[in-house]
This record gives sequence, structure tokens and C-alpha cells, in this order.
Amino acid sequence: MTALSAVRYALWALLAGVVIGVTAAALGLFPGAQKGTVSGTATLGAPFTLTAMTGEPYSWEPATGAPHAIFFGFTFCPDVCPTTLYEMTTWLDRLGSDGETIKALFISVDPERDTPEKLANYLSAFDERIVGLTGSQADIDKVAGDFRIYHKRVELDDGDYTMDHTASVLLFKPDGSFFGTIAYGEDADSAVDKLRRLARS
Ligand code: NI
Repeated sequence: MTALSAVRYALWALLAGVVIGVTAAALGLFPGAQKGTVSGTATLGAPFTLTAMTGEPYSWEPATGAPHAIFFGFTFCPDVCPTTLYEMTTWLDRLGSDGETIKALFISVDPERDTPEKLANYLSAFDERIVGLTGSQADIDKVAGDFRIYHKRVELDDGDYTMDHTASVLLFKPDGSFFGTIAYGEDADSAVDKLRRLARS
């Protein structure tokens, strides 16, 4: 290897490293994802049973037979969650009959405050297809981990608290395989297109 080709090789290696790093960050999606690993998306999510906003147990397993949009949040969220729920409502509305098979789950990362009743009341303002789920803190932590959702309680100066959490909407095909995500603030046309393709998957 000449000195020049060694330099070229080093540059390419460096570039490749940067590209791999960026891809890993893009695929990692979530702050909680392990650094430097591009993990298989097929393993995202795991069967769970939580409590629906009706108070009834609600079970989910990957091969549900229906396309799913799953996102995590909490009813006291000042900004991201109400925005996402509002946008999800408009996306589903725009899809019309194309989206009628889609099931949407809103899983609370704040089960201490989000009782089934609180969820039902809060979600009544949004599309009726959005099912609110809560559970014990341990169950929520397990489910969030299985879906690689970052969530963290943050104490506020006034003695109250808020929750930091991953804002992406996770999309799953009827066979349970991971379809992709809708990012927070994503363009509405792009989101509707993804949901339409998901519904046909
Ligand atoms: Ni939120």
C-alpha cells in the first residue's frame, strides 16, 4: 500500500464509519437504543397485556391480523402527545375507509396519574379508534422496553413532575412485523401515505 492509497483507505474507512454511525442513529430511532448496534427490526415489540381505558384487560401480540399504529405518551403531556393525538386523528380522518382496519394504541408512560378513567376522558377528544392503555409501572416499563421506547420521569421545581419520552409513532403490519415510524412533526402527506401503505400491507 502506497502512502497515498493508505491515506485514501483511511479516509474511506472514516467516511464508512460516519455513514454507519448515521445509519445506526437513524435506525436506532430511540435514545434508549444501544449505541453502535443496528438491531433487527423484526424483534421490536413483544406480546403484552395491559389495562384498556374501559378498565378491561387488553392483550396485544405481534401477529394481530390488523395494522397497528402504537405510540407512547401521557395525558399531562403539555405539547407532544396532544399534538400527536390531534395529528393522528386528522390522518385517520383523511384516510377515510382506507384506514378503517388500522388500530391505534396510546400507551401511557405515566400510569401513576393515567388511570383508565383519565385516559378515557382525555382520548374522547380524539379519533375513537385510538385506544388508551395503562397498567402497573412494572408492566409499562417492560412494554416500553420491548418497544425500545425511552421514558424518564423528570421532577419539576414546583414539586410536580413530567415525563420525557420517545415521540415516534411505531407502525406494525398485520403479521406483526415492524413497518416503520412516523416521526414527531412529520409532514402530514408523508404520514398519511405511510398509513395508507400500512393499511394495504
Ligand atoms: Ni408526550
